[in-house]
Amino acid sequence: MSKPRVFVTRAIPEKGFAIVRDFCEVDVWGDELPPSRDELINHVRGVDGLLCLLTDKIDGEVMDEAGPQLKVISNHAVGFDNIDLSAASARKIPVSNTPDVLTDATADFAFALMMAVARRINEGERYIRDGKWKTWGPMTLLGVDIKGATLGLIGFGRIGKAVARRALGFDMRVVYYDPSEKKPDLNIKATRVDFETLLEESDFISLHTPLTPDTRHLIDSEALSKMKPSAVLINTARGPVVDSEALFEALNERRIFGAGLDVTEPEPLPLDSPLLTLDNVIIAPHIASASVTSRAQMSWMAAQNLIAGLKGERLPNCVNPQVYSK
Ligand code: DGY
Repeated sequence: MSKPRVFVTRAIPEKGFAIVRDFCEVDVWGDELPPSRDELINHVRGVDGLLCLLTDKIDGEVMDEAGPQLKVISNHAVGFDNIDLSAASARKIPVSNTPDVLTDATADFAFALMMAVARRINEGERYIRDGKWKTWGPMTLLGVDIKGATLGLIGFGRIGKAVARRALGFDMRVVYYDPSEKKPDLNIKATRVDFETLLEESDFISLHTPLTPDTRHLIDSEALSKMKPSAVLINTARGPVVDSEALFEALNERRIFGAGLDVTEPEPLPLDSPLLTLDNVIIAPHIASASVTSRAQMSWMAAQNLIAGLKGERLPNCVNPQVYSK
């Protein structure tokens, strides 16, 4: 019997890829950069399954170009804003993501950014490399304290909660805003507040919300104007949750203390982005989940979802379960 045909839009860790290779006839995009739109369309034609990344925009056109035999779209990421979910659901194509396996890696990274911005680690390093370190100084590179500070989490799902657990170990007070929360989690010492209160009371604000029409530019100039002048903003969610022009203004005018961004709008951030001229921002190239273990697990999970879909089984991590309703 012939194997199902799949397109994998980039090389993924062997843990997942080995499973895909065994079960399918695989076309894998081998470049370091993602396929262009035209290349993507050429490669999806006639496939039974698609294993894609957050850098691939998968909309109705791509699904139609693939053809009616397309049985599954497996995203190698927990976020799936790159996929037009209504288009997939309208075509009864199940879509999956990779939740849980990157929670701790991402929470660690959010915390790492928080500490690095608060204690000006990158600035300190540049200070040395620029030959400015002449002596120990009582006022040199003073940062803001973490212990006892209030951490405001926007989004209190798996990753938000994992950040909260870390914060409690640092004796922080944790507040959160999450309009989608159904029932408070009493196991974590955190207080639910409204958006305004969170902005006004937090010393650190960390974003853990998916990108949706409601969260696009949630952190705009108005939100930034409500933050404390000593506040630090951390974004490991999606770049467009923050209005980057407004953030640049706030950082440049020192209306907030600093920011740590693992995600930007756009990605990659162009080298002439004004944000790169600032000292009080640390920017990473979307690597919060980039630990060996977490990426291997993501590839494994993406492979399991892909194969379940190819077999006509329910995807273990389906994000549009309505496709299964009669
Ligand atoms: C995700 O999975 O959505 C992260 O942004 C990348 O791992």
